Amino acid sequence: MADLALRGDRSDPACATAGTWLECIECGETYPPFAEVRYTCDCDGLLEVRYAELPTWRDFSGTGVWRYDAALPVEAGVSLPEGATPLHEVPDLEAELGLARLRIKHEGMNPTGSFKDRGMTVGVAVAQRAGVDRLACASTGNTSAALSAYGARAGLETLVLLPRGKVAAGKLAQASLHGARILEVDGNFDTCLDIVQALARSGEAYLLNSLNPFRLEGQKTIGLEILEQFRDEEGSYPDRIVLPVGNAGNTAALYKTFRELVASGALAESEVPALTGVQAAGAAPMVEAIERGRDEPRRWTDVETIATAIRIGNPVNAPKALPGIRETGGTAVAVSDEAITDAQRALAGEGIGVEPASAASLAGLRELRERGVVAADEEVVCLATAHLLKDPDAAAVAGGDPEPVPGTVEGVREHLAE
Ligand code: F0G
Repeated sequence: MADLALRGDRSDPACATAGTWLECIECGETYPPFAEVRYTCDCDGLLEVRYAELPTWRDFSGTGVWRYDAALPVEAGVSLPEGATPLHEVPDLEAELGLARLRIKHEGMNPTGSFKDRGMTVGVAVAQRAGVDRLACASTGNTSAALSAYGARAGLETLVLLPRGKVAAGKLAQASLHGARILEVDGNFDTCLDIVQALARSGEAYLLNSLNPFRLEGQKTIGLEILEQFRDEEGSYPDRIVLPVGNAGNTAALYKTFRELVASGALAESEVPALTGVQAAGAAPMVEAIERGRDEPRRWTDVETIATAIRIGNPVNAPKALPGIRETGGTAVAVSDEAITDAQRALAGEGIGVEPASAASLAGLRELRERGVVAADEEVVCLATAHLLKDPDAAAVAGGDPEPVPGTVEGVREHLAE
């Protein structure tokens, strides 16, 4: 362990902490963080950013993602700015579910309307350091919207690969207007990711999917923010965090931040929230892996759900996320599209507008309450990952229909009296 700190690029002034390196979660091989562009280990294992020094609460100041620069690999990045999203009270839902406390963390309030912005502000900063000129991602929509905005802001060419016909209108509009080149692939998200990984490996583009370990560092700040907000408002940390799972990057990022807080002494092991993942029944390889005790999920080739953001059959971050769910005492659950739409309506009824994938967390919590897996004395945070306007078509299906009326006061009165 003695030479550990030396393996990081300590002379690099943009390192927020002295001693930062990449480490393979499978074989333990280490690499300098910025000397070469690299996404995975030579053994194909996933990489994690590691730090010689880990921060505690007093190291954080300011607001948003960059409040947590002491926990990040770079000090600053292209910022729009992101983070500092609300933690909503939902008294009706809290009563309906019969929970000690229920809060909704609304990540739809980020600049491009999803949590992806937190990862992009860090990931694009690292891309700029690497001096690349083309950014790329595969996406079910939100990652492409975020990358397009941050790429535009950074003045870099942006390429997005999307599954044709399966990306919600709002997300496509964002990628288009922010000036990304949009490649509509004849295949699902997993096919798009296979292709973009090949392009990235041969140096044709810089990959900003959640395989990129720097992006997940930015997403850790969701966990840091939830813990701080919950503690400041409620005087304790939440028992459980429920989140939708697609590629399982967010689950991996939350688990990493909890481990780092425990290692720095900022959080007791007993205070770590139980990570609880929710997938749509038509795209649930992680749930299957948890239920059957598998170390590796089976790749689902046919996936379908109204929650197109999480229409994913091959969760590439599973090796990081499955231990997170298991070791925090969490679980994973699958929900139907009908349950997702019901949950989307219920959140809207409390004034919180989210897209279907985001509502999956509440749908999963409802299911686990019914099964008695989640107890009445629990304090729970549901992660709402993106905004209602991302998917106007799904919102229209879940909501009521407009009523045509004549263009006169009398006509409107008559209609209302009917
Ligand atoms: N919720 C929303 C709204 C998402 O867009 C995604 C992922 C997830 C949840 C799942 O997060 O992959 O970290 O488990 N969207 C990616 C995209 C795949 O391309 O926008 P995860």
